Amino acid sequence: MSNVFLDACAGRPTPHTPIWLNRQAGRYMPEYHQVKGKLPSLDFFKDPERAAQATLDAQRILGVDAAIMFADLLPILEPMGLQLEYVAGEGPLFHNPLRSEADVDALRVAPAEEATPYIADTVKNILSGLPPEIALIGFAGAPFTLASYAIEGKGSRNYVFCKRMMYEQPELWDRLLDKLVDQVASYVQLQIDSGVQAVQLFDSWVGCLSVRDFDHYVLPHLTRLMDKLRGRVPLIYFGTGNGHLLDSAMKASPDVMALDWRVPLGATWRRLEVGAVQGNLDPIVLCADRATVETQARAVLDEAAGRPGHIFNLGHGIIPETPVDNVKALVDFVHEQSARRPA
Ligand code: CP3
Repeated sequence: MSNVFLDACAGRPTPHTPIWLNRQAGRYMPEYHQVKGKLPSLDFFKDPERAAQATLDAQRILGVDAAIMFADLLPILEPMGLQLEYVAGEGPLFHNPLRSEADVDALRVAPAEEATPYIADTVKNILSGLPPEIALIGFAGAPFTLASYAIEGKGSRNYVFCKRMMYEQPELWDRLLDKLVDQVASYVQLQIDSGVQAVQLFDSWVGCLSVRDFDHYVLPHLTRLMDKLRGRVPLIYFGTGNGHLLDSAMKASPDVMALDWRVPLGATWRRLEVGAVQGNLDPIVLCADRATVETQARAVLDEAAGRPGHIFNLGHGIIPETPVDNVKALVDFVHEQSARRPA
C-alpha cells in the first residue's frame, strides 16, 4: 500500500506533505497520563501493552502520517549493566555512570532478543492496531548521545566527564562506542524484524561538538552503525544545534536528514544533496497563539516549496506545556496547505 511518509522518505511526490512530531506521545496529552497511571516511567517503556496504547492514541488523536514506537533512548543501557532510574520532575539518572576502564570493560553486549525482548512485543502490538496506511517508525540513540548519558549519568550542560574520556582516553572511548554500536544495531534489527518501517537515530546532544571532534571521535562510529543497518528501511538522522555538523554527518549517508529550526530548511536541503529532509518548526512555536502556529508552519512549507521529500516535523520534541489543540491544528494546517500547493 502506498504510504505518504515512506514515499517522502524515498523522495517521491505525495498528495500532501506528511507530518509526524518528535515526542508526539507524551505528558502534554491527557490520554498519556491515563495510560501511564501510577506506573514508573521505566516500567511504562518496557510494558508492550501500555506502550502500544500510548503510540496508537497519539497517532489517532493527532491524525499524523506516522506513529513512533513508544519507548525511550536509555533503557537499552540497562541490560548492558547501567542502573537506570527516571526521577520524577528531573529526568533520567544512572546510579553507576561509566568513569573508568573497568566500567567500560564490564559493559555487556547481548543479542536484543535477550537484552530487550519487550521491544519486539511492543512493535507487534502497535502493528495490530495501526491503520495500514500509517507508517511505524522505530528509533534508538545514536552513539555519541548514548555515550554522553552513560558517562555523565544524566543530562549535562558541559559534558565534562564525557569529553574528558574522549580526549584523554581515546582508545577507551572507541571501545565504548564500539559496544554501543553493536548493541544499538542489534536493538534496531529486532525492531525492523518485528515490523517497523523506518528508523530514526536520535543524536540529540551531538551539537556540543566541534566539526573537527565530530569527524574524529564520532563519525566513524556513526558510519559503522548506519552501514550495519542500511538497506532494510529508511534511516533518519536527527540532532539538535548541529547545523555546523550536517555536511559531515552526510558522510554517514542517512536516507533522511532531520533539521532543527536554527537552520534555513530550503538552502540547507539544496546544499546537502540529500533525497529527503525532515523538520524544522521550533517546538516552542506550539506554545504560542494559533495565528503564530500557522504563520510559522507556512514559513516551513514555503522553505520546502513543494519539493518531494519533505517530511514536516519539529526541530526537537513537544514539551509538556504544549496545548494539544495547537498540535492538532498544526497537523490539519500542514495537510490542508500542502494539498493545495500546485506541484
Ligand atoms: O512520541 C513518542 O512516542 C515519544 C517516545 C520517546 C520518549 N523519549 C518517551 C519519553 C522518544 C522518541 C524519546 C527519545 C529520547 N529520550 C531522547 C531523544 C529525543 C530528544 O528529546 O532529544 C532523549 C534525549 C531521551 C532521554 C530522556 N527520556 C530524557 C532527557 C527524559 C526526561 C525529560 C523529559 O522530556 O521527560 C526522558 C523521559 C521520557 N521519555 C518521557 C517520555 C514520555 C517522560 C516520562 C514521564 O515522566 O512520564
